[in-house]
Amino acid sequence: MNETIKRLYHTAGKDSRIILGLMSGTSMDGLDLALCRFEGFGRDSKVQVLAYDCMPYEDAYLEALRPVAFQENAPLSEVCRLNKFIAQTHAKMLKACLQSWKVDPEDIDLMASHGQTVMHIPANDPVTDPVGHSTLQLGDGDLLSVHTGIICLSDFRQKHIAAGGQGAPLVSYGDYLLFAEPENPVVLLNIGGIANLTYIPAEAGFGDVMATDTGPGNRMMDAFIRSRMEDVFFDEDGRLAAAGELHQTLLDALSDDPFFAAPYPKTTGPELFNLDYLLRAMDKSNCRYLSTEDVLATLSALTANSISHEILKLPLAESPLFYVSGGGAKNKFLLSKIERLTGYKTMSTEEKNIPPDAKEAVLFALLANETIAGDMGALGPGSTNMPAISMGKISFPY
Ligand SMILES: Nc1ncnc2c1ncn2[C@@H]1O[C@H](COP(=O)(O)OP(=O)(O)O)[C@@H](O)[C@H]1O
Ligand SMILES: [Mg+2]
Repeated sequence: MNETIKRLYHTAGKDSRIILGLMSGTSMDGLDLALCRFEGFGRDSKVQVLAYDCMPYEDAYLEALRPVAFQENAPLSEVCRLNKFIAQTHAKMLKACLQSWKVDPEDIDLMASHGQTVMHIPANDPVTDPVGHSTLQLGDGDLLSVHTGIICLSDFRQKHIAAGGQGAPLVSYGDYLLFAEPENPVVLLNIGGIANLTYIPAEAGFGDVMATDTGPGNRMMDAFIRSRMEDVFFDEDGRLAAAGELHQTLLDALSDDPFFAAPYPKTTGPELFNLDYLLRAMDKSNCRYLSTEDVLATLSALTANSISHEILKLPLAESPLFYVSGGGAKNKFLLSKIERLTGYKTMSTEEKNIPPDAKEAVLFALLANETIAGDMGALGPGSTNMPAISMGKISFPY
């Protein structure tokens, strides 16, 4: 038998597995790494986060990605080069991170690498687009495995698409396995570059879980700040937005996209909600000369409104347990707006021992745990939104 298959077989049967989750979201702020110990699988999964870090990207990396990430007309040669370059960079960052944690790569059973999304194309009309939803994450899993010596699961989203899903959000699988409650409905909101939510009714079966993107998260705010201010990358704690004033005509122009009225589940990306989208809305509403603070106050309102709008559409008879994660969970101004609009108090995923900054990386590690040691089919039939499938392509170190 192939030695790596033997190792995998052994890993699948162990009482506990050490899995490293790697996540790089649409904010492109950095690579999130979460070292996790898993016991069991499915509804019996137990996870302990042993260490986590967000390693920020260097300017040169972001410069290299600029002509490709979310660009309709990206040069194919650059796409080809980046698939390797992203994996090379992630492998280097991973090794540096393990060194800082004093963890030997040999002690890690598996890694789960999300890669970098560079294009996500939701297609809801089978007549005009018979191909349907498609998505592309770069950062080759083979290179990651060969360069680190760790078995790598990567490219998780393609299986979801193959099984009829939209390729996103995927964290809903982990949300269900780790956060479902017998007596309370649960809502989990992740505010990254794009915001998404998972709704788990009380006593939910696997097929009852709903996951959807809600629209813009931080990315448009980040992009706008970078266009106006030097060396400021985001609105810390939402202080700039809090000092500004909402402009209704700009908010109306920003809210004028069919995505917002479309029923959930739906997905989107920075191909739609980007700096150009904002600049077009500013032109349309004659708001080009608004102060940075006023534009941020209005963008915060757009994010808070679109999130709250989807939450208020949920069939909630009582207040849910409402967990918030992602970098946007630190934006106090945004969070207080969401609490006001929905009427629900938020709490951190830290309550369940999952640091909010590490949550997505942990949940990709959990998907790898399910693929190697779990049995998704045993959870029940699932739904179009959440098919019962194992995800991730497996790469061997040699
Ligand atoms: N203290 C903070 N206050 C406000 N926003 C923050 C703060 N810390 C991080 N963020 C926002 O969170 C973003 C990163 O969030 P993250 O969850 O990593 O998103 P992604 O998954 O898209 O990478 C940053 O780009 C920034 O906009
Ligand atoms: Mg990030």
